[in-house]
Amino acid sequence: MTHAPQLNSTPRTATGPAIEAQSLSKSFTVDGRDLPILHEISLQIDSNELVAIMGPSGSGKSTLMYCLAGLDHPSSGQVRLNGMDLGTQSRTALAKMRRGNVGFVFQSYNLIPTLTAYENVALPYLLEGRKPPREQLLTVMDEVGLGHRVDAQPPSMSGGEQQRTALARVLALAPEIVFADEPTGALDSRSGELVLTKLNEVARKPGRTVLIVTHDPAVAARCDRVMFLGDGHLVDEIRPNTAAQVADTLAQLTSKRREG
Ligand SMILES: Nc1ncnc2c1ncn2[C@@H]1O[C@H](COP(=O)(O)OP(=O)(O)O)[C@@H](O)[C@H]1O
Ligand SMILES: [Mg+2]
Repeated sequence: MTHAPQLNSTPRTATGPAIEAQSLSKSFTVDGRDLPILHEISLQIDSNELVAIMGPSGSGKSTLMYCLAGLDHPSSGQVRLNGMDLGTQSRTALAKMRRGNVGFVFQSYNLIPTLTAYENVALPYLLEGRKPPREQLLTVMDEVGLGHRVDAQPPSMSGGEQQRTALARVLALAPEIVFADEPTGALDSRSGELVLTKLNEVARKPGRTVLIVTHDPAVAARCDRVMFLGDGHLVDEIRPNTAAQVADTLAQLTSKRREG
């Protein structure tokens, strides 16, 4: 069997958005003081959407992704994934969900340097004591342009190759919701194109959803929607047509910030 691990054996009856946040706020405690990072963010992302989050460095994009993926807890507000309220789940249920239904590609790739690229991709299966579906994993690696690098170890790989290995590791598990923090950040335009094509294809499969963070207007323009984050507020949202339009929206946001 090559099925991704499932959250539980009961079929989901809940409908509604794949990702939903209601008044999500997040603060960190720094030197005993409350440092607010995200302010009352509400959003809905439907199944089969490919959505990008953009915003200046430090605006809270990664923090938002962690909260939405259940890797961090909001200080207040609610997050639902496929109808499941993360705030009411036990630690065990959340851990199970993170292993099965949700895939997260970290900005730092988190690869094991002494394993080959293939072994890194197969690792989630090995950790669960399951036989990795070799052909399936090799196909995913091939699709993101790593076919010739399956036996390479991360220290001998370029940043872009490592980034695609981290992506392949998540995609190979076929999670319902893929979160990817800057998945094309280290890629040249040709590899970026491959990754975008693959993410697009994933988002069109039944019951699947993809949310990415990107700085690249060309990448964002290939998404269904782009949400703009400024100083921890969701400040704008567009259905993009062109990269130029995305770049314009981002520039307006940055200039508003300077004025304000
Ligand atoms: N664990 C933490 N403790 C304190 N401050 C944090 C922590 N994580 C992030 N921050 C701060 O929150 C802000 C947003 O960070 P982040 O979400 O990484 O932004 P982005 O991904 O948009 O660059 C930054 O000012 C960062 O320094
Ligand atoms: Mg970030």
